[in-house]
Amino acid sequence: PTFTTVSNLSNLLNVRYEKLTERLSEMGFEELSYNFILDQETAGLIADEYGFEVNFGEENEGFDLKPNDNIPEKLLKPRPPIVTIMGHVDHGKTTILDYLRKSSIVAGEHGGITQHIGAFSVKTPLSKKLITFLDTPGHAAFLKMRERGAVMTDIVVLVVAADDSVMPQTKEAIKHIKKSGVSLIIAVNKCDKENSDPEKVIADLAANGIDVEDYGGETQTVRVSGLTGLNMDKLEESIITLSEILDLKASSDKKTAVEGWIIESQFKKGMGPLATVLIRQGSLRNGDIIVSGKTYAKVRSMKDEAGKVVKVATPATPIEVWGWKDLPEAGDVVLQAKDEKQAKETIETRTLREERKNQSKDIEIMNKLRLDEK
Ligand code: GTP
Ligand code: MG
Repeated sequence: PTFTTVSNLSNLLNVRYEKLTERLSEMGFEELSYNFILDQETAGLIADEYGFEVNFGEENEGFDLKPNDNIPEKLLKPRPPIVTIMGHVDHGKTTILDYLRKSSIVAGEHGGITQHIGAFSVKTPLSKKLITFLDTPGHAAFLKMRERGAVMTDIVVLVVAADDSVMPQTKEAIKHIKKSGVSLIIAVNKCDKENSDPEKVIADLAANGIDVEDYGGETQTVRVSGLTGLNMDKLEESIITLSEILDLKASSDKKTAVEGWIIESQFKKGMGPLATVLIRQGSLRNGDIIVSGKTYAKVRSMKDEAGKVVKVATPATPIEVWGWKDLPEAGDVVLQAKDEKQAKETIETRTLREERKNQSKDIEIMNKLRLDEK
């Protein structure tokens, strides 16, 4: 929105200030002064009365980074799928993730302490392919993304306990999955238990509109146990099969600017702001400049979830990035800038835009109050 002052409008229309304030008081405005601010609508209305057509024009927005608009087909290469786990309380989401995470540590060449960075990669035992798991679906980043209608995930694994079947949060998850259009795999969990009834789970899911493969549909179902590890390799292979059908691709070429998301961020004593970044496009290197929200980083170092230093981070790999000026916000988009100048310009533009937005709110409220008083 654009604003103008009474004195400016009087100059523009070449109408005497007194005349203008007279008309404005008729319209219900009070305590008018030279610097009284008029919104676009009021100014337009008055200008119209004096036979002017107002062209407020586009505000000079300033520079802001944009995502890659067209990545050449030949640069697009297969990338790992990004997977989240959903399901009812106590159906075994954390147990399944812990199992996958542990098996990935054992399988990896790097032993030792793993740190929690909100996402981790697994190499499948049979096909040796990578899967990225996001392990905090209740987390602020997801809520924010969901609000904005953006989808970070390619595949949802819906966990349903075989001794409990479809429950309220299972139905909630199904609704969300259908709305967002992400692909689905069913993990029927706790199949090691004596009182488990996986066939009932399948039937209940079908009754809730899931086209399970058991009844000739497309949705894969895997009977697992996160506790004993039963069929966990099958679950991983199902994810790989689905990701191949989905034909997930991204460019890690230098010509493609880095795009990604902040998964989580924290201030670490002695290190400053750190953020877990999930890269969507491009590849990130030390020294690169990335902007998120109203802060930026000149990347000083990157680590994977095992704490190992990473030189080049490619699409769908989660990495912890060090070098932020301020703490970026979980769920915010990350975009690469050419240099620090571009990063600062972007942040300036965003700050200004927000200030303008807040200003416009004030005026709306002021005018509304006036109308209410009348
Ligand atoms: P919330 O985070 O509270 O929603 O629960 P969750 O879905 O993460 O479930 P969690 O992994 O914490 O498991 C709940 C309980 O079920 C724990 O006591 C687990 O040990 C148990 N459990 C999980 N998976 C299995 C399984 O495959 N078999 C058996 N027998 N028990 C399981
Ligand atoms: Mg849990």
